[in-house]
Amino acid sequence: MKVLNIGSLNIDYVYKVSHIVRGGETILSDSMQTFCGGKGLNQSIALAKAGASVYHAGMIGEEGDMLLDTCKKYGVNADLIQKIEGKSGHTIIQVDENAQNCIILYGGANQKLTREMIRDSISQFDQGDILLLQNEVNDLAYIIDVAAERGMFIVLNPSPFNDKLKECDLTKISMFLLNEIEGEQISGESDPDNILNVLKEKFPKARVILTLGEKGSVYQDQDYKIRQGIFPAKAVDTTAAGDTFTGYFIASMIEGRTPEECLKTASYASSIAVSRMGAVESIPMRDEVMKLK
Ligand code: RIB
Repeated sequence: MKVLNIGSLNIDYVYKVSHIVRGGETILSDSMQTFCGGKGLNQSIALAKAGASVYHAGMIGEEGDMLLDTCKKYGVNADLIQKIEGKSGHTIIQVDENAQNCIILYGGANQKLTREMIRDSISQFDQGDILLLQNEVNDLAYIIDVAAERGMFIVLNPSPFNDKLKECDLTKISMFLLNEIEGEQISGESDPDNILNVLKEKFPKARVILTLGEKGSVYQDQDYKIRQGIFPAKAVDTTAAGDTFTGYFIASMIEGRTPEECLKTASYASSIAVSRMGAVESIPMRDEVMKLK
């Protein structure tokens, strides 16, 4: 079973600040660091660090070589990444003293996927292979339709949530990985059990993994509902914690682990990620996660 991730690749400019800047205010940052990130790239790297074989498809701009190099460094197959004219996707991320962040996202090359590139990428995969998606690239509805036609197992992390997702036929999704806020945006409910009930009603065949911050996570399918607590860690930067969870959950699932084991491994991995600055670099290697277990 192969994994294709059609997703974003961003250069993250991370500013450490005393507090998140308010409207009309100017503040001095304590530091600025540049990291490789993007929900797509982070999730591919998490899969690779967890030991899975993953192909990433996406677009980078003229200054995006560091994103390609990062794929190669961690063993993500980058043959389906194209370099185009113009800027790569990038973000401006503020991280405050409580490790809270806020992000401005510039789509850049991530918003320039072509239908030809999408069809070519998907044509290299077979029925039952996994397609992983987030919502930082253009034409998500088309990607879902083509992949469903091919019989792929489609995993969607609907993040960041916006109206574009309303154009997608979400009944074609095999597994959702989402947080409480995205769960509320999709279901119209705020209580986690109500979110899960609505998702079960709307998408009865889909597996759902709902992360609940400090309250842990829940796995639900047609037969089971399983809960997992968090592994406490001193948080310095929560960026990519959700991406780490997603990558490790899918990698464990590919290994044939039970949903309980998948949740536990993913929770361990994301507890390590929050204790480090940055995105890709904060994602732990498989050995570190296994040592904790
Ligand atoms: O999920 C974290 C990621 O979201 C960051 O790396 C940033 O690029 C934004 O896309």
